[in-house]
Amino acid sequence: MKPAHPHIPVMLPEVVGALALKPGSACMDGTLGAGGHSEAILRQTAPNGTVAACDLDPIAIAIASERLAPFGSRVKIIHDSYAEADRYLEAESLDGALLDLGVSSMQLDNAERGFSFLKEGPLDMRFNRDSAAPSAAELIANAAEDELADLIWKYGEERASRRIAAAIVREQETNPFTTTTQLADCVARAVPRAPKSGHHPATKTFQALRIAVNRELETVERALTVITRLLKPGGRFVILTFHSLEDRIVKDFFRRESSGCLCPPRQMICSCGHAATLKRVKLSSLSAAAGEIAENVRSRSAKIRVAEKLNGGAK
Ligand SMILES: C[S@@+](CC[C@H](N)C(=O)[O-])C[C@H]1O[C@@H](n2cnc3c(N)ncnc32)[C@H](O)[C@@H]1O
Repeated sequence: MKPAHPHIPVMLPEVVGALALKPGSACMDGTLGAGGHSEAILRQTAPNGTVAACDLDPIAIAIASERLAPFGSRVKIIHDSYAEADRYLEAESLDGALLDLGVSSMQLDNAERGFSFLKEGPLDMRFNRDSAAPSAAELIANAAEDELADLIWKYGEERASRRIAAAIVREQETNPFTTTTQLADCVARAVPRAPKSGHHPATKTFQALRIAVNRELETVERALTVITRLLKPGGRFVILTFHSLEDRIVKDFFRRESSGCLCPPRQMICSCGHAATLKRVKLSSLSAAAGEIAENVRSRSAKIRVAEKLNGGAK
């Protein structure tokens, strides 16, 4: 089942350049998607480099497996979260690791997945629909108004979170939510927004629910430590983020892990015992080039962050 609009890998030359892999290198692609980044990495590391690639989404796994089949045993596909990568890979075994966070165009464009407020579909939003985790509809059905408001505020940075949560809970009582468009319309009625804002009024609410349903921020937070341990000294960790919440987590982690001491600035003698595990790698730009943004709207909000594992860091 080929998607009508396959996912275009974001900042591909920048990602490949930042990973700085050589022929024979071992790399992990934590977010396989349609396999665009993985394919470029396999070409870069030919003839015998390897990619271990994770995804939670069985549809992405099927599509990417077909795409990467010509690379044979150089690819190891892992149907699991990138935060569980240490169950499949040895410590200090990787020359590079990539995370391209969030949702793919294939997932957004497939109405059945329930990620898009523009397409009518079941209100699901799980990366893995086969999992027992609650869907967005179940989350709404079981959340108290305050919880829902906090979630929309925290994960969507939506100023009208209380008004939206109140409208959702009111409608849920008489007409339980089952579809994406039902939710989008409910939010639009609660916070009508001037057309010039350029964004659908439900944009932030949908982002918040998707992050909550998939526990995205907790997963990124945990994965940063797990994946750092898998890198060899000198191995590069490259991360593409798409909104400020996940970017802040990555930026803070790289800053913390590249500091030799975490004691308060005024403390004269170090008592934290922290040692730096990473060195931040500066790039000429954090964002996609104007040409790419013009061709692929998804790259508009992308930020690339890169760090290199230090000798003796986090085994
Ligand atoms: C932006 S897409 C990646 C696109 C990919 N780089 C490409 O070139 O096609 C993000 C992918 O990460 C997957 N994903 C999200 N959370 C995940 C997790 N915790 N573990 C593994 N995969 C995850 C999603 O299912 C989605 O396919």
